[in-house]
Amino acid sequence: MLDLGGGTGKVIAIHFFNETAMNWTYVDHCPAMAAEFRRNLHGHPLGRGSQIVVDDMNRALGQLEAHSYDVVMLSLVLSSMPEPPDFGALRRLLRPGGSLIVTDINPGYTRDKPLHKVWVDGAVVALRTTPVDPFEVIRQASMAGLRVAEQKTIGDASIYYSFLLVFTLD
Ligand SMILES: C[S@@+](CC[C@H](N)C(=O)[O-])C[C@H]1O[C@@H](n2cnc3c(N)ncnc32)[C@H](O)[C@@H]1O
Repeated sequence: MLDLGGGTGKVIAIHFFNETAMNWTYVDHCPAMAAEFRRNLHGHPLGRGSQIVVDDMNRALGQLEAHSYDVVMLSLVLSSMPEPPDFGALRRLLRPGGSLIVTDINPGYTRDKPLHKVWVDGAVVALRTTPVDPFEVIRQASMAGLRVAEQKTIGDASIYYSFLLVFTLD
């Protein structure tokens, strides 16, 4: 598993913390996030099969071994990036039969509320989010030789909250 922009691990990786036979490569450019991920993973079996890379994925992707991941995951990451990564570089990392999973926020919501605000030590800080158009993701992935294997929206209110796309090698 290649968990790009893995954050604290409390949304995705946590579900696999007790796996004993899984290799988990985590990449995040934020040292504080990686430190929190390490703390959360500490003492769990997945830690034995994990590699933590603290670097910008745009640099890290080229240094990872080609065709060696069953799953490459971008969960709520494209909306945290000013520009999307090179989908050709993502494709290169997938094993035959592997999947690229992209999940992100409804771009309408991000466009209306670009600032994701949180309180830190008594002050409000904000992450400026980028709207991620699922059709644009599909277009870029297709140009890189990936095709949609599955797609769904998440959230049952009148407006969907987020979307999920699964790509496989074309
Ligand atoms: C909203 S968090 C999502 C974390 C996790 N994937 C999840 O689903 O909970 C976005 C993460 O992407 C990381 N990130 C953003 N741009 C990045 C980049 N260019 N390279 C590596 N990590 C990046 C951020 O540091 C942050 O931890």
